[in-house]
Amino acid sequence: MAEKKIIAVIGATGAQGGGLVRAILNDPNGGFAVRAITRKKDSDKAKALAKAGAEVVEADLDDAASLKKAFAGAHGAFCVTNFWEHFNADKEQAQARNMADAARATGLKHVIWSTLEDVRRWVPLTDKRMPTLGGKWKVPHFDGKGSIDHVWNDLGVPTTLLLTSFYWENFIYFGMGPKKDKDGNLVLTLPMGNKKLPSIAVEDIGKCAYGIFRKGREFIGKRPGIAGEHLTGVQMATAFGRALGKQVSYKPLTPEQFRGLGFPGADDLGNMFQFYADYEVMFSGARGVESTRALNPALQTFDQWLAVNKDRIPID
Ligand SMILES: NC(=O)c1ccc[n+]([C@@H]2O[C@H](COP(=O)([O-])OP(=O)(O)OC[C@H]3O[C@@H](n4cnc5c(N)ncnc54)[C@H](OP(=O)(O)O)[C@@H]3O)[C@@H](O)[C@H]2O)c1
Repeated sequence: MAEKKIIAVIGATGAQGGGLVRAILNDPNGGFAVRAITRKKDSDKAKALAKAGAEVVEADLDDAASLKKAFAGAHGAFCVTNFWEHFNADKEQAQARNMADAARATGLKHVIWSTLEDVRRWVPLTDKRMPTLGGKWKVPHFDGKGSIDHVWNDLGVPTTLLLTSFYWENFIYFGMGPKKDKDGNLVLTLPMGNKKLPSIAVEDIGKCAYGIFRKGREFIGKRPGIAGEHLTGVQMATAFGRALGKQVSYKPLTPEQFRGLGFPGADDLGNMFQFYADYEVMFSGARGVESTRALNPALQTFDQWLAVNKDRIPID
């Protein structure tokens, strides 16, 4: 039997990369093996990956030499940065450059770069609809990723630019789910007006990435976008209501109200939602549900995700 192609997975202990690790391990005859990259081989999550059958290797995105070692001998790599660890888009870009350099140095045959749009292509810094942040960004955690997309091509690395979507897990971990108002009624508040939000179960991002590695050459040089569904606030509130067995209503905030919520990153996320809403057709159009299902036939709907996760959503 041919030797398995190794996929080095950045963010293997996290949400996107973890889904890809599990997708590879769950398909032992698929022709791929997984190398899980982490800064901390001794963490519980890294140990669990090793126990599940992954090769676990230490590297740090801030340390180019460690990435070269970690990518050596691999067929491909899944590359993701974690903006929310440091809130610094310049740092994300330096990390992306380090990964691209390492990919070129080690001759990888296929990289997936987990990216998002550079919002400034649609909303230039001179556009007063939303504030400019940090002097040079509109949506820092989008712009930093999207405006470094070129580095892979510049270095001649065979790459798929994967446009991801809003995770439904944000309703669990990011405090974005329905909350009780002062009268005890459950209310979903998102600054989306009546526009549709392309969104996905994060585990499905990893499964789609696996589908892309399986299809291989067909996806090199492409920029596929993925989503589980495109849903309005009313549709999401109705689905929450069905799952929770309680009335849930949708109350759209304005982007200004959302930016004013004051938690770290509220301005970045307020601008993001405004971009989603103002560019609904382009943004959803770049993330077709049927093309996503073609990569990942097990793609979940929001109802299916809620059926499994409804008790994990903090609503008090
Ligand atoms: N939330 C959303 O709706 C959403 C939607 C689309 C895109 N995103 C983007 O997704 C990204 C985060 O991905 P995620 O949700 O999969 O992250 P996550 O679950 O928070 O996990 C972060 C992962 O990144 C690894 N990591 C972080 N810094 C590293 C470094 N310096 N060197 C090596 N590994 C490092 C961590 O590994 P160790 O700790 O084990 O080293 C961990 O596995 C963000 O940039 C965000 O903008 C989020």
